[in-house]
Amino acid sequence: MTSAHPATPQGRPRSGPVREPSALTRNPRPSRALARTDPESESSRTPVVPATLPRLGAGGEGDAYLHGMHIVIAGGHGQVARRLGALAVARGDRVTGLVRNPAQLPDLSQLGVGGVVLDLETATTAAVTEALRGADAVVFAAGAGPGSGAARKDTVDRAAAVVVADGAAAAGVPRLLQVSAMGVDSVRDGGVPGGREEVFVAYLRAKLAAEEDLRARSGSGTLRWTIIRPGRLTDSPGTGRVRLAQSVPRASVSRDDVAAVLLALLDEPGTAGMTLELVAGETPVSRAVRELVEAS
Ligand SMILES: NC(=O)c1ccc[n+]([C@@H]2O[C@H](COP(=O)([O-])OP(=O)(O)OC[C@H]3O[C@@H](n4cnc5c(N)ncnc54)[C@H](OP(=O)(O)O)[C@@H]3O)[C@@H](O)[C@H]2O)c1
Repeated sequence: MTSAHPATPQGRPRSGPVREPSALTRNPRPSRALARTDPESESSRTPVVPATLPRLGAGGEGDAYLHGMHIVIAGGHGQVARRLGALAVARGDRVTGLVRNPAQLPDLSQLGVGGVVLDLETATTAAVTEALRGADAVVFAAGAGPGSGAARKDTVDRAAAVVVADGAAAAGVPRLLQVSAMGVDSVRDGGVPGGREEVFVAYLRAKLAAEEDLRARSGSGTLRWTIIRPGRLTDSPGTGRVRLAQSVPRASVSRDDVAAVLLALLDEPGTAGMTLELVAGETPVSRAVRELVEAS
C-alpha cells in the first residue's frame, strides 16, 4: 500500500500534523460535521481540533462539530468520486482516494486529493482498516463499471463494499456512505427483472448484497451508515436540485448532483440508517437532506 497527499489548495504541504490554519479558522461555517484528524501524522488518531469537541458516535451533546473532516473515498478516481473530492477539498475537508492504479494519483493530486493505492478486490481487511484509520467518514463510490462481467460485479460492487465496511468498523470510522443503485429491490428474494441482461441483474444483486451487509450491522458498533441509490447517472451539469427520498420515481441524476448530495449527507448524521433514492428534482440539495431528518 503506497500513499500520497498533495499540497493543500493553499499550497501548504500535507506532511506532518496539520496544526494551522486549523479547521476552526479555515472553515468558520458552523455545521454538524466532524472533528478533523491528520492520518499522516504519527499521532494519527489525534484530532487537530480541540479534544473537547465531541466526535460523531461519541454521543456528546450539542453536535458542535466544525468543518474539516478527513474523508476517504473508496474508488477515489471514479467520476462521482472525483466530483465529491473536489467539492470537499474546496470547502476545507481533507480527502484521500483509494485507487488500484497508481497512475491515477496525479489526477487526484490536481484536485487537492490525496491517494492510497489499494486494490479493493484483493486487499485484506487489515490493509483497508489501516487505510481508513483516523478518517472521519468513508464513502464507497467504487464500481466495476460498464464493460465488466458478472464476476467483477460481485468482487467490486459487493465484496469490495463489504471489506470497506469491515475496515471502517475495525478502524472506528464513525460514518459511511455507500453508493448503491436504484432498482436493487427488483432482485430481492431471487427476483429477476424482465428485459434486463444477465450482467445487469448480477450488478443489482451485488449492490443489494452490499446494502444488506450494511443493514445487518445496525445495532452493533458505532458505524453510522447511509445508503444512496442514484438513478441513471449523467454527465450533465449539476443543478443543485434533486429528489431524495426512500422511494422516488425512476429518473436520471447528474454525477455533479450525486456528489453534492453525498457531501451534504456527510454533514447530517441524522440520516444514518436511511436508504435513499436519488434523482434529479426541484428541491435544493441542502433542503432535501434537512427535510429527511426533520421528517424522521
Ligand atoms: N452508471 C450509472 O448509471 C449508475 C447508476 C446508479 C449507481 N451507480 C453507481 O455509482 C457509483 C459511482 O459511479 P461512477 O460513474 O462514478 O463510477 P466509475 O466512474 O466507474 O468509478 C468507479 C471507480 O471504482 C474503481 N474501482 C473499480 N475496481 C476497483 C478496485 N478493485 N479497487 C479500487 N477501486 C476500484 C474504478 O477504478 P479503475 O479506474 O481502476 O477501474 C473507478 O475509479 C458506482 O458504485 C456505480 O455502480 C452508477
